[in-house]
Amino acid sequence: MAVVTILNEDTTLTRTEEITSTLASHGIDYERWTPAHPIADNAPAEEILNAYSREIEALKQRGGYVTADVIDVNPATSGLEEMLAKFNREHWHDEDEVRFTIAGHGLFHIHSSNGAVLAIEVEAGDLIRVPRGTLHWFNLCSDRRIRAIRLFQDMTGWTPHYTESRVDENFMPVCFGAAHLSMTS
Ligand SMILES: [Fe+2]
Repeated sequence: MAVVTILNEDTTLTRTEEITSTLASHGIDYERWTPAHPIADNAPAEEILNAYSREIEALKQRGGYVTADVIDVNPATSGLEEMLAKFNREHWHDEDEVRFTIAGHGLFHIHSSNGAVLAIEVEAGDLIRVPRGTLHWFNLCSDRRIRAIRLFQDMTGWTPHYTESRVDENFMPVCFGAAHLSMTS
């Protein structure tokens, strides 16, 4: 389950219906997906894509996505810091950013067109779709890990365009779920 914080209002949402409707009001799609059959989060990419093929196909139809892949980022990933530094500043893409989390955590900040800033912490089972042109930035959580399905309309469009607003510097990338997990484990 995602945790959504509306930072300007200091409001935190943890219920699926609340999260779905609030994110929708800012143009962000949120869904919970369950696999067609039980599957390990370290299964090969092909098996992961098969287990979620029904949801992936439905989303491809809706959003015009043509390809899906699985990315894997963990503390041992070479060039991790350089990779993260490309996405932790406010930017947008000419392409939707579609991510379904299989393992680990991620923190998306969305800078809505009405000025609100929302933090969306995602974990296994969470799909989010950030439409093209939406201002956002991304951080990992303390586990420094995310495995996720990505969908693309055209991979050439998926390049960050930076606003250089530095608005991201006003918001600490804090993950509640991951912090809670690390405290209790
Ligand atoms: Fe992005």
